[in-house]
Amino acid sequence: MRIAVVGSGYVGLVTGACFADLGHEVVLVDNDEQKLEALRAGEVPIHEKFLPELLARHRGHRIKFSGDLQAATRDSQAIFIAVGTPPTESGDADMSYVESVAREISGAVDDYKVVVEKSTVPVYTNEWIRTIILRNGAHPDHFDIASNPEFLREGTAVTDFLYPDRIVVGVENERAAQVMRQIYDPLTSGWYYGRGDAIPRPDRAMSPTEVPPRLIVTSAKSAELIKHASNAFLAMKISFINAVASICENVGADVQQVCDGIGADSRIGPRFLNPGIGYGGSCFPKDLLAFRAVAKEGGYDFRLLEEVIRINEEQRRRFLKKVRSVLWTLRGKRLGVLGLAFKGGTDDIRESPALLLVEELLREGCRVCAYDPAAMDRAKEVLPDAVELAPDAYHAAKGADAILILTEWEEFSSLDLDRLRALVRYPIVIDGRNLYDPATMLEHGFSYYSVGRPPALCEEAPARARAQERA
Ligand SMILES: NC(=O)c1ccc[n+]([C@@H]2O[C@H](COP(=O)([O-])OP(=O)(O)OC[C@H]3O[C@@H](n4cnc5c(N)ncnc54)[C@H](O)[C@@H]3O)[C@@H](O)[C@H]2O)c1
Repeated sequence: MRIAVVGSGYVGLVTGACFADLGHEVVLVDNDEQKLEALRAGEVPIHEKFLPELLARHRGHRIKFSGDLQAATRDSQAIFIAVGTPPTESGDADMSYVESVAREISGAVDDYKVVVEKSTVPVYTNEWIRTIILRNGAHPDHFDIASNPEFLREGTAVTDFLYPDRIVVGVENERAAQVMRQIYDPLTSGWYYGRGDAIPRPDRAMSPTEVPPRLIVTSAKSAELIKHASNAFLAMKISFINAVASICENVGADVQQVCDGIGADSRIGPRFLNPGIGYGGSCFPKDLLAFRAVAKEGGYDFRLLEEVIRINEEQRRRFLKKVRSVLWTLRGKRLGVLGLAFKGGTDDIRESPALLLVEELLREGCRVCAYDPAAMDRAKEVLPDAVELAPDAYHAAKGADAILILTEWEEFSSLDLDRLRALVRYPIVIDGRNLYDPATMLEHGFSYYSVGRPPALCEEAPARARAQERA
């Protein structure tokens, strides 16, 4: 099929590249000329595994880049809107980017097309898009609106797209459903998975989904709600286990053991039970606010979501308190910070808890030397010059009063601990992502503090610090 994807960001680029790999003709549209130039020149503007391979495979053949939305619409049978939906001051999603796309394409809707919401949007957006396109002169028989929420996770976005748990398609009639079924047929029929050059299936332990995936057809409204409800539920799971981790700290239990015990229940499952410094990124924080606003507008006060957000914010404060309790005073302390991205595997720093913590530590007078495998360039643009950026984890650790692990990059879980021990000023690791076994850290001469687990202490910590840690 001929498909236009509007918005060449994290979702749009991955969607376009994957559709091309499924055999479709894709035109990726963006209004950022600089981004388009970079893409045409062969650059890959985001860090995402397998994306460079897919773009190299299809650039110039099945993928084209364009700034001309009207022409792209005219040439396409389906137009996927994947522009941003950031939060407004009041927490509602800012739908002005989506609206401007709807307005712009309306003049080019000249024969039957399906306009697909890929962005995460509040319920009823499909009706608004339809209204805007009609208001701007398109014939009602020339288009349908579909909702096709995206569940990819940054860091594993390509394999999440190609090996999804499910594909959700919200439509109001069979004609649009047929187009959507055809688009995803290479996945749902299993054809893609039999191909020799298919992007390999991720480790089953990481992604225990069955192939081919199920395509779930719903109403557009239900599909819109499925996306918000999914993200809210996942954020709730994170806040839940973070709250349990806090109780573990208070009573001296080990949250990892508790997670093993809870996660073994098939009704709960082990995934997403990872205590840490809280969720961040461009989705959960804004989607929770938006879902709360949507619920309120619909007459339901979804107070559970407020608590999920409160626990998430408290989690960062608790971590900061932990740093204080370990180091006593912070002014002038040198910290080796490992990780700036909001999660491992991505260069995305939007709403990154790591960055928020670094900013707080700077305010308290710490000196920070930081390293991230992919997010350094983006972080440089927003961090003050006072933050030193190191070329690797070992440089960041040099002379540090303590090492802070803030992002769960795989490379941070397999550091040469003896080398690290020789570089630091004091052998103290405060791990916000529970990447290490406390006993191993102790064997390598580190005092190790993590989330929801008793600290492993090389040195005799002052009684006050122990008390603070418990509180
Ligand atoms: N990032 C994720 O992990 C993720 C996952 C699932 C869903 N989503 C949702 O997908 C949507 C996009 O997210 P993203 O992270 O890809 O955003 P992004 O900011 O990375 O990309 C948005 C792109 O849209 C372009 N754009 C904006 N207005 C435009 C216009 N009028 N015409 C053409 N291009 C335009 C921007 O230049 C940018 O390149 C959001 O609604 C988000 O909530 C994101």
